[in-house]
Amino acid sequence: MYQRIEEVNSEDSVGKKVKVRGWIYRKRRSGKIVFIIVRDSTGIVQSIVEKNSVSNDDFKSAVKAGIESSVIVEGIVEKDERSPTGYEIKTTSFNVVSYAEPFPITEYQSDELLMNLRHLWLRSRKMTAIMKIRDTVFKGFHEFLRGEGFYEVHCPMFVSTAVEGGSTLFEVPYFGRKVYLTQSSQFYLETMIFSLEKVYTVAPSFRAEKSRTRRHLTEYWHGEAEAAWFSNEDMMKLEERMIEHIVELVIRERKNELDILGRDVESLKNVQAPFERIRYDKIVDIATEIGIDMEYGEDLGADEEREITKRFNAPVFITHFPAEIKPFYHRPDPENPSVVLCHDMLAPEGYGEIIGGGERIYEIEVLRKRLADEGWKEEDYYWYVDLRKYGSVPHAGFGLGMDRAVMWIAGLDHIKYAIPYPRTIRRVTP
Ligand code: 4AD
Ligand code: MG
Repeated sequence: MYQRIEEVNSEDSVGKKVKVRGWIYRKRRSGKIVFIIVRDSTGIVQSIVEKNSVSNDDFKSAVKAGIESSVIVEGIVEKDERSPTGYEIKTTSFNVVSYAEPFPITEYQSDELLMNLRHLWLRSRKMTAIMKIRDTVFKGFHEFLRGEGFYEVHCPMFVSTAVEGGSTLFEVPYFGRKVYLTQSSQFYLETMIFSLEKVYTVAPSFRAEKSRTRRHLTEYWHGEAEAAWFSNEDMMKLEERMIEHIVELVIRERKNELDILGRDVESLKNVQAPFERIRYDKIVDIATEIGIDMEYGEDLGADEEREITKRFNAPVFITHFPAEIKPFYHRPDPENPSVVLCHDMLAPEGYGEIIGGGERIYEIEVLRKRLADEGWKEEDYYWYVDLRKYGSVPHAGFGLGMDRAVMWIAGLDHIKYAIPYPRTIRRVTP
């Protein structure tokens, strides 16, 4: 029986015999004592290996084993203020499962090297903390939507149609013809609302983004939902409660990890629904006020979003974008068809867009016209158009950039830290 290190670091374990397994995190020798900090997935604890308390062989192993060697340690738990966690193991047996070669990552390394050694860097305390927060963000997403009666469904990644415009499509050779990697599962989710009404999926989306920014990946994780009978406003109400739920869960379950990352938790506590809703035309005014050069009809770029969201301490919705800067499927506002019933949710503190969503066109004539306006062929979208022939209903949906949500909630300054193996223009290894 093995104990988790988390259990060892507790009042209940003091005086008890324990056995843990993990990897050497830090090590220092002082004559006849070797201080070895061992880590497992739950934490770290110091093992004191004294020459007189273990066999000769065990002491030699402790002296020889370097950082990241895998080990099994047995001993008695004692309290000691000087040890990093306040508890330590007075070791009676020290076994090395596998001696590590000199570990290539030391304290100060270039980002490039760390990215090349990503498979090893993932073991660091910082990356471990981020991965645990990421896990909680995904858990919160699933938990919330299932709680709201959404069914989880799965959509194809090889597709034959664009969703978000042609310029960011990845082409893939496919048995003598060309297909694409999906930009969004939205259209497939739309097909499923006619049976399940409320559906969601978490899957990769692919974007051949030429932009080298802190928040663009070429392959990212996309949490998308679609619901029959929902209006744009209904969807925003759902999303703000969802984001509140996810952030609360992270604050509750990942306090330690937020601490390790130095995340300012107070600012996360401001994330409470309802979020402010601002119309796009108002944003143009705000931008002008704070000295950003932006004209009506221009999309918000990363810089604009950063400046605007720095002024808010909770997420905000931007609604009623001009139709021409949004993909064809967005439903025009019946009161002013030059704008669409959609929304972007921007995260505060400069993070910017994390969600895009809105109402979909459900009238077949309007959809046909928009497809034609944008130069898409109806036959390529026959199945999407069909949905408007057989019992069409008003509906809405959204897509949350999961990695961007992790980046914001964990307080990271680049999206590449938010995902185990980031894919960017320059990097597909390891
Ligand atoms: O705003 P986007 O392009 O919207 C859609 O794809 C809709 N079809 C979603 C839907 O309604 N079902 O993408 C949605 C979100 C963005 O708000 C952003 O958070 C994230 O996906 N995203 C990216 N994340 C990382 N890297 C990229 N290159 C991203 N592009 C979009
Ligand atoms: Mg968007």
